[in-house]
Amino acid sequence: MSIPTAGQAETEQCAQNQVVGDHEVHNPHGKENAMTEPLMVQKSPYPVVVEAGQRYWWCACGRSQTQPFCDGSHQGSGFEPVEYQARKSGTVYFCGCKRTGNKPLCDGTHATL
Ligand code: FES
Repeated sequence: MSIPTAGQAETEQCAQNQVVGDHEVHNPHGKENAMTEPLMVQKSPYPVVVEAGQRYWWCACGRSQTQPFCDGSHQGSGFEPVEYQARKSGTVYFCGCKRTGNKPLCDGTHATL
């Protein structure tokens, strides 16, 4: 097995472009896990009882196994978790479809999907 030169490697990576829906996935850095859209986990929000002053990290990529919160699975996806700091204790509704316009909270977008 030979080691590709920089030019060969770039050509091979660009040859891996894929059309997904109406998007082309371009992966110029060879990050196999790069994503253009988050995974939709569910079409409803997650009600969570939060505590005033606590920080929470909402999963933006949809890969986490501890939804709605980040478990580090976003590595290489191009997504980062979104911090939420509770101002008061109570129930808040974290987005489950990962397409809210009010990250990290539900804005009802799931009803249009
Ligand atoms: S696992 Fe999804 S943002 Fe971290």
